[in-house]
Amino acid sequence: MTVRISQTADVQQFFEQAAGFDQPGGDQRMKTVVHRVLNDSIKIIEDLQITPEEFWKAVNYLNDLGRRQEAGLLVAGLGLEHYLDLLLDAEDAQAGHVGGTPRTIEGPLYVAGAPVSEHFARLDDGQDPGTVLYMTGQVRDTEGQPLANAVVDVWHANTGGTYSYFDPSQSEFNLRRRILTDADGRYRFQSIVPSGYGCPPYGPTQQLLDQLGRHGQRPAHIHFFISAPGHRHLTTQINLAGDKYLHDDFAYATRDELIAEIHFSEDAKGPRADIDFDFVLQPTAAPEDQTRRERVRALEA
Ligand code: DHB
Ligand code: FE
Repeated sequence: MTVRISQTADVQQFFEQAAGFDQPGGDQRMKTVVHRVLNDSIKIIEDLQITPEEFWKAVNYLNDLGRRQEAGLLVAGLGLEHYLDLLLDAEDAQAGHVGGTPRTIEGPLYVAGAPVSEHFARLDDGQDPGTVLYMTGQVRDTEGQPLANAVVDVWHANTGGTYSYFDPSQSEFNLRRRILTDADGRYRFQSIVPSGYGCPPYGPTQQLLDQLGRHGQRPAHIHFFISAPGHRHLTTQINLAGDKYLHDDFAYATRDELIAEIHFSEDAKGPRADIDFDFVLQPTAAPEDQTRRERVRALEA
C-alpha cells in the first residue's frame, strides 16, 4: 500500500513555512529554490518509497562528500557539469554566439594565481620522469585574426594523474602556468605528458559510481582558460588522442573538436611528444563575458 501525503494542503503549507515563505526576512531567491528542493524531495520519497534507512544513508553520504571535499567531483561524474555546458551551448546557439573552440568542463582542480610568463613557459619542475612534452599553438578570433597578449592559463596532472596543490607532494604551481601570447597570437610550453585521472578509489564519489556499475577514470587531458580583452572567456580542455578512456570519460568532457593528436618521437635528448593546438575565441563587448564564471576555486580571491 502506498501512502501519499505530499500534495495535501497541510503538508504543502508546512513546507512553505519551512522555506520561510511566511517570514519577512531572508532572500527571496533562496526561499524559492529551497521550497522547490523540499517539494521535489518529498515527491521522490513517496514516488520511490524511500525508506528511513535509505534517507539517513543519503544524509550521511552528504557528510562524507563534504568531509572529503568531493562534491565538485560528484557533480562532474554524474554529468551535471557537462549538462551546464550543453545548456550554455544551447543558450549561445539561440543568441547567435557561434563559432570558436567549444567549451568543456573546468573540473574541480584549478588553482588561481599560477606564475605568468611571456610567450613560453616550462610547466614542470623536473621531478617527474615523464616524457617531455612540447605544446604550441595560436589564439585567434573567429575572423581568423591572431590575438596578441591573450592569456593561456594551463593546468594538468602529472604522470600519476594527480594535480599540484591537491597533491601536496608536488611543488607549488607544478604543471600550472599562465602564458601570454606573442604578437602573432602564439604560445609555447614545455612540460611532461600527463596521465589520465582516476577518482580517489575509496572516496564517496567512487563508492557511488561503483553502485552505478561505472568507473571513475578520465583520459589524459590538459585544461585551459583562454582569455583576451574584447573576447569571450573560454573554459576548455584538450583530450589526448589514443587514450583508452578518450570516449569513455567519467566526467564527459571529451568533445570531437577538443581531441588533440600527440606525436611521439625521439630527439638528441631522448623521447619527446609534440602537440599543436589552436584556440579560437568569440568576440564580445560585454565585460562579464570576458572573465571566468564565479565559483569557489583554490587560492582565488
Ligand atoms: C574532474 C575533472 C578533471 O579534469 C580531473 O582531472 C578530475 C576530475 C571532474 O570533473 O570531476
Ligand atoms: Fe583534470
